[in-house]
Amino acid sequence: MSVAFRPPLQVGADPEPPLPLLLVDAVSHTYRLRGRALPVLDHVSLSLARDGFAAIVGPSGSGKSTLLGLIAGLEQPTTGRILVGGSADRLGRVGYMPQRDLLQPWRDALANATVALELRGVRRDAARRQAQALFEQFGLRGFERARPDELSGGMRQRVALARTVLAAGDLVLLDEPFGALDALTRAQMQDWLLHTWPQLGKAGLLVTHDVDEALLLADAVYVLSPRPGRIITRVRVPFARPRPRDLVIAPTFAELKLRLLAALGLAHAPSAAAAQALNEGAGMEPGR
Ligand SMILES: Nc1ncnc2c1ncn2[C@@H]1O[C@H](COP(=O)(O)OP(=O)(O)OP(=O)(O)O)[C@@H](O)[C@H]1O
Ligand SMILES: [Mg+2]
Repeated sequence: MSVAFRPPLQVGADPEPPLPLLLVDAVSHTYRLRGRALPVLDHVSLSLARDGFAAIVGPSGSGKSTLLGLIAGLEQPTTGRILVGGSADRLGRVGYMPQRDLLQPWRDALANATVALELRGVRRDAARRQAQALFEQFGLRGFERARPDELSGGMRQRVALARTVLAAGDLVLLDEPFGALDALTRAQMQDWLLHTWPQLGKAGLLVTHDVDEALLLADAVYVLSPRPGRIITRVRVPFARPRPRDLVIAPTFAELKLRLLAALGLAHAPSAAAAQALNEGAGMEPGR
């Protein structure tokens, strides 16, 4: 029997690839519901680089919000591990914008945005100064004193996002941030986010039901199966930034959208011939 020769490990000879900002490693999660086990996530793995933006799509109830709650550190996964910046101790180090905006109706917009900073002990005037700078960037100038019911839906979401960004470390989790908005406002918010996000210097993980939104905003899109959620497809999104909205009518966009819809069971998988025609239309090599 021959034994393969392995050179001894040399420190510094072959640098390790940099650790991702977020590592979700074989995470499964089971809730207990009135004494019964409810498996919600099944061996979910994903990673996100420091400047990355990924999206998760999946049917209702597939565990998307559960996954974000686990990443934020609100709960611990039943099995598997989640590391942020290499550490499992992530509570308070991740910004989390939950599915509903949860603005406090009695506080004005600026005071809503500063909640998390004040909880961290930042002095109120310093917190308000930080929020004020972000309000400029978020198109909320002049509405600092407005209460949530005096704002439009899109503005409320931007206040909630400002609060999340102010509270966050390097990673922001967005749970269907535009889900409750009408189609036109949602498109405007997506364009605004495309423009604003690079200036924030954060990594983002977006949950959405909207396949177009996922492809427009993210570098990678993960598709979850019905509960218990498993990752059934990962699509790398190749479009350079800045991304104009008319990307949504590009042939490559259509091909990727068809792949995602097929994974969600909402379309037939493209035949090899159809995929090739789409690729040729997009000037791509077949099978790329
Ligand atoms: N705290 C909890 N205790 C028990 N079961 C829960 C809890 N939170 C969620 N679940 C269950 O876990 C499953 C996944 O819920 P989750 O909210 O993660 O789904 P989702 O993919 O975000 O759905 P949607 O797209 O509708 O927001 C559901 O069946 C839900 O009933
Ligand atoms: Mg949800």
